[in-house]
Amino acid sequence: MHRPIGVFDSGVGGLNVLKYCTALLPDESFIYLADEANMPYGNKPEDDIARAAFACADKLFAMNCKAVVVACNTATVTAIDRIRALYSTRVVVGLEPAVKPCVKELGKNGYAVALVTDATFASDRFHRLLESCDKKVVPLASPKLAKLIEDNQGDIGKIKPYLCEVFEKYGDAEAVILGCSHYSYISGLISEIYDGKIKIYDGAEGAARRLKYCLELSGLTAKKGEYTPTIKFLSTYKK
Ligand code: DGL
Repeated sequence: MHRPIGVFDSGVGGLNVLKYCTALLPDESFIYLADEANMPYGNKPEDDIARAAFACADKLFAMNCKAVVVACNTATVTAIDRIRALYSTRVVVGLEPAVKPCVKELGKNGYAVALVTDATFASDRFHRLLESCDKKVVPLASPKLAKLIEDNQGDIGKIKPYLCEVFEKYGDAEAVILGCSHYSYISGLISEIYDGKIKIYDGAEGAARRLKYCLELSGLTAKKGEYTPTIKFLSTYKK
């Protein structure tokens, strides 16, 4: 039986993760769920984020998904341990800021800025990740940014003045870590702000590689040519 892989985020951010997943796993079918009813996650209390993330995982597993990708940094740091505990026999892959790959390439005296949502900024998991680094990574929370990106998909350049303010104090940073899946949409703008002289790290590809590894490990990888893969898009909405 050809079972799909579920991918969810609070909105359009996880589509970038989906892009890497489909490129790496072209024989798999996917269901993408945008939890627009609860967007933004990043400004909500931990329990509300966890509840929303559970509901998404529940929905996707109920649709017979063989694996679920939490394509959202905020939901990962807040709820992935609890989702894994609840679905202990299932493949659940999370999205984490690419702090480790960045730190590996960071110069001895340079520093990176890790741009995240408020909820990620406040989470223990994110701070443990930063504490495990032997180089300087400055966490930076931007409360409005994910929603601005979600709402300005047609004309993302409009948010550049706001972004300039966000990075104003960090003109000498060597790298920026995109700690929210929505921020993939603004990597071009960040590059412009730094005149192309900045390295940008995104965890999306790493999550797709992890998914591939987990599927192989569990013997769940789809066989080439056996089925025509499909991608289904779903969204929750505010009544
Ligand atoms: N895209 C989500 C993340 O990766 C959060 C966006 C939101 O605040 O809903 O953190």
